[in-house]
Amino acid sequence: MSSTQLSAQETASRSSVIPCFLRGFFENPLQVASFVPSSSFLQRKLSSLACLQTARCVVELGPGTGETTRALLEAMPADSQLLCVEVVSEFVAHLQELADPRLTVVENSALSLKSILQQQNFAKPDVIVSGVPFSVMSPEEGRQLIQTIHQVLAPGGVFVTYQFRNNVCELAEDCFGAPQSRDLVLWNLPPLDLYLWEKTAESGEQKKMSSLTLEA
Ligand SMILES: C[S@@+](CC[C@H](N)C(=O)[O-])C[C@H]1O[C@@H](n2cnc3c(N)ncnc32)[C@H](O)[C@@H]1O
Repeated sequence: MSSTQLSAQETASRSSVIPCFLRGFFENPLQVASFVPSSSFLQRKLSSLACLQTARCVVELGPGTGETTRALLEAMPADSQLLCVEVVSEFVAHLQELADPRLTVVENSALSLKSILQQQNFAKPDVIVSGVPFSVMSPEEGRQLIQTIHQVLAPGGVFVTYQFRNNVCELAEDCFGAPQSRDLVLWNLPPLDLYLWEKTAESGEQKKMSSLTLEA
């Protein structure tokens, strides 16, 4: 497919989801946090992530109307699986229209991720991508979500999130340490940062163990 065809397809799909996204925003302003879906610039950055190209199991939290979901599916192998978790019912209905055999959509909160993975019998994810806005969650909920993401990720797994504010770095510090990369996406409304952390042996458990050793 040529880039002209691709961008014509992107524009058509984007204009068809904007009314749905706007309604979702006005009905749930805090959760949705933006009145238009993420830009094609962010979508391209997501689909060029190396970690997606070899991933078997991917989780997307806060997929919205599916613009970012399409970008993930574009990069993922043919025999991989993508589990999307979204709270807004109208967005879930839109996502279910994405006819891709690799995709499972669950209407629930990202905060229930652990039990969702169990119910869906989904393996430990290699990559978790989150569009859930940490800045509008309470610090307790934000920390709980990061801890769950860290616990359920496969060893060596990657956590990717795009955010309008940077409080996610503080929330993730204890589990993941500093982000491995931070990429400013100016061409988005509003501009945002794309962060990436890897769950290394150094992050989380080892970090906690070394602090316990120091305290002893
Ligand atoms: C900034 S929008 C991003 C939407 C889409 N990924 C995009 O980039 O166009 C945030 C999304 O997270 C969803 N969301 C917010 N809180 C959530 C939660 N606790 N669990 C699951 N989804 C949530 C919202 O409904 C919304 O779809």
